[in-house]
Amino acid sequence: MSVTAARLGSAPVTLDWSHLAKPSSNVGGGGAPLAPSDAWTQLKSRFEKGEVGFYDAPLNDEISQAQASQKLATEVLAQGFTDCLFLGIGGSSLGPLSVLAGLQDRRQNRIRFHFMENPDALEWAGTLRGLDPASTLVCVVTKSGTTFETMAQFLCALDWLGESRIQSHVVAITDPAKGDLKAFATQQKIRTLHIMPSVGGRFSVFTPVGLFAIALAGLNVTDFLLGAKQVRDFCEKQPLEKNPLFIIGAELIKQFSKRPIHVCMPYSTRLRSVGDWFVQLWGESLGKDGKGFTPLACVGATDQHSILQLLRDGPDDKVTWFITVDKVADPVKIPRPELKGTTTGQYGAFRLLQGHTLQELLTVEYRATSLVLTRQNRPNLSIQLDQLDERAIGALYFAFSVLTAFTGTLWGVNPFDQPGVEEGKVYIRDSLTQSAEHSSNTSSGFADDDNSPVARLRRGQ
Ligand code: PA5
Repeated sequence: MSVTAARLGSAPVTLDWSHLAKPSSNVGGGGAPLAPSDAWTQLKSRFEKGEVGFYDAPLNDEISQAQASQKLATEVLAQGFTDCLFLGIGGSSLGPLSVLAGLQDRRQNRIRFHFMENPDALEWAGTLRGLDPASTLVCVVTKSGTTFETMAQFLCALDWLGESRIQSHVVAITDPAKGDLKAFATQQKIRTLHIMPSVGGRFSVFTPVGLFAIALAGLNVTDFLLGAKQVRDFCEKQPLEKNPLFIIGAELIKQFSKRPIHVCMPYSTRLRSVGDWFVQLWGESLGKDGKGFTPLACVGATDQHSILQLLRDGPDDKVTWFITVDKVADPVKIPRPELKGTTTGQYGAFRLLQGHTLQELLTVEYRATSLVLTRQNRPNLSIQLDQLDERAIGALYFAFSVLTAFTGTLWGVNPFDQPGVEEGKVYIRDSLTQSAEHSSNTSSGFADDDNSPVARLRRGQ
């Protein structure tokens, strides 16, 4: 019998792919142009050339900037900020946002984070209404140093803070040499942390993008990187054919033409936004050359009551990825309240639940959903975390990152670029340039009759 579940070495994560490939399931013929061993050799040669920085971040402080992140977080915390306005989008926000949501019960301080991704006027004004500039740290994060959504909000934040607070109340995280944010931060003497050019945006949770926020939240950066390192060690030592990350990547490609949709369903409300991080990582890294999986994020058990019916009986075009947490500090016992004139135990549903815990119920729900899908030959796989702590989360994010890097390489796509996203940025820049010229001529706002690609498309040209 072949092995279909394994721990990732000493990392607190177990993968179970026993319900991913079933002989009876009718798999469509997706294929990979490379053999797994060639893909791994190719990827490792990129690692060795230093082209893929995230892989070395757990070992290399120059890439992770862990010490600098921690030092600056300590300095900033000593200033007594109550809030952090975190400006960034895509890879410059989804990592820290989802890690902090996952680990919120382990936080050692009360500084409140406000992640501002979308340049949405109502959200911006509503958030600022509840904040005091005197006690708010503005952390602006953009690797390119030019992303308009982030820069627009940064300009609003600078104005709101007032000039006298720029050096004391702002931290910038950006490329060490390039981009407008780097130049501005240098000129204004703003405290700055760096994202090394070799680390792609959606892999940057292992750099100050993730690590500064983790430290600022009073979480353990060393343990987060240790979890990542344990997965890295496992990948280095484990023979290719025994590494579940590689087995799963190859199997998913095999099933691609029949099952191009991947549903990420953590059975943990705390891990809900891991799904959003996964959507970016998986979608943006692999969606190229007519290939790619369509990632969807949902949460169990909640979405059993929305999407499960479709997963079981809708088109057989999906693979469901479960993420579970084995142990929680307080599993919350379901009590037997004694009420006047009644014993709750006389009612069937109450009786079945009493004496169990909410944690047990959630686990039973996950197993039931996996069984529902498996009995219908709907493929699913499980990623089990021992508990929700820094080491497990670091291991989970690193495992997903390696899986993505390997799957893309095996499939013959470059998992580390994003030409579609960049093209969108170029059109926005063109539009803004046209509008700037227009408004300098007419003194009105954005041009409606401009000649930019966006305006031309809107006019159907
Ligand atoms: O993964 C990526 O590179 C992108 O999705 C970026 O994270 C996103 O576009 C934000 O870019 P930046 O960090 O340059 O503001």
